[in-house]
Amino acid sequence: MIPAPSNKFKNPRAKYGFKGRTCSIAGVGSYVPERVLTNSDLEKLVETSDEWITTRTGIKERRIAAEDEYTSDLAAEAARRAMTDAGVGPEDIDLIIVATITPDMPFPATACIVQQKIGAVNAAAFDLEAACSGFIYAMEIGQQFIMSRTYDNVLIMGAEKLSSIMDWQDRNTCVLFGDGAGAAVLQNRPQAHGLLTACMGADGSKAGLLNMPGGGSLNPATHETVDARLHYLRMNGKETFKNAVNAMTKAATEALQRCEIGIEQISCIISHQANLRIIDAVGQRINAEKQKFYVNLEKYGNTSAASVAIALDEAVRLERIKRGDLVLMTAFGAGLTWAAAVIEW
Ligand code: UT7
Repeated sequence: MIPAPSNKFKNPRAKYGFKGRTCSIAGVGSYVPERVLTNSDLEKLVETSDEWITTRTGIKERRIAAEDEYTSDLAAEAARRAMTDAGVGPEDIDLIIVATITPDMPFPATACIVQQKIGAVNAAAFDLEAACSGFIYAMEIGQQFIMSRTYDNVLIMGAEKLSSIMDWQDRNTCVLFGDGAGAAVLQNRPQAHGLLTACMGADGSKAGLLNMPGGGSLNPATHETVDARLHYLRMNGKETFKNAVNAMTKAATEALQRCEIGIEQISCIISHQANLRIIDAVGQRINAEKQKFYVNLEKYGNTSAASVAIALDEAVRLERIKRGDLVLMTAFGAGLTWAAAVIEW
């Protein structure tokens, strides 16, 4: 049974006149591919070491999708698990949003391919690109459709096959990322407070810090773009690191302030899983105890849009998040983009 709203804090949605309407996460699910690529496996590919990767990032291994397993497959499996958890069937889904930077192809949207794979014949579908902030962006956008009474069941996903855009000769990036997907079903559940607030932000002036320059209208694919390795992810790690800490701290602080709650009231923090040192630095700045963060990056590395979604699913399954708990989510990614959210579970 879902407990009644606790009224321990301000619900910022109330002022927008959404009385009697609440957007809650009715079910979650995740899926990661079977194949494990360990740090010692990477030692055979590039000049790196388990010691360097572990101490600089906290990552020990990551999952790599099979050659014939695509972003839409990972997303579809996570979606099926989330729908089962929520007790809804594919025909009940009104809208599908897939957050990804590794769509099956530039178009059509991977969300449409997922729609077909799961049989959600009544759903509208589109992709959203906000890199690692994508899942929180999707949650906030999906929430708008629930609150406006447009839809009853919105299926959101963060899904990535980052191995398909990795430069396996670049030790600065190839040790960091992995494949996977996470999903959630959003519903109106008036018995609970649900998603209390979400803050989103972006800074396009820093788009060059983390990108994949080839394959779009700027650098359409040619032999030259392939030779210049433009179809791989590139990152200025140091600058991205600094921006990640600042942006996630700012977004998390703003989200808490909007709800007029203190960090001590938060039971669990689901942060983007890029680097343990980033999570620790954000924790110090928002005065959060280390154990409040759910961390799984040692197993999966950075799965971009899937990262927060997989962590949320695992934290719920492991009962690190229980009904009535206040959960803080925060993420940061290419764009630059950032986002934070507060949820009463
Ligand atoms: O999801 C989007 C957000 N992404 C992130 O937030 C990632 C942010 N960045 C980071 O997590 C870190 O900056 C990295 C983990 C990418 C790098 O850590 P760092 O402490 O900033 O290292 P660095 O880039 O300053 O490199 C230090 C040294 C360099 O050698 P020199 O120039 O000092 O001789 C690198 O060449 O470490 C070297 N290095 C490596 N050595 C062994 C870089 N990558 C590796 C590697 N193995 N894989």
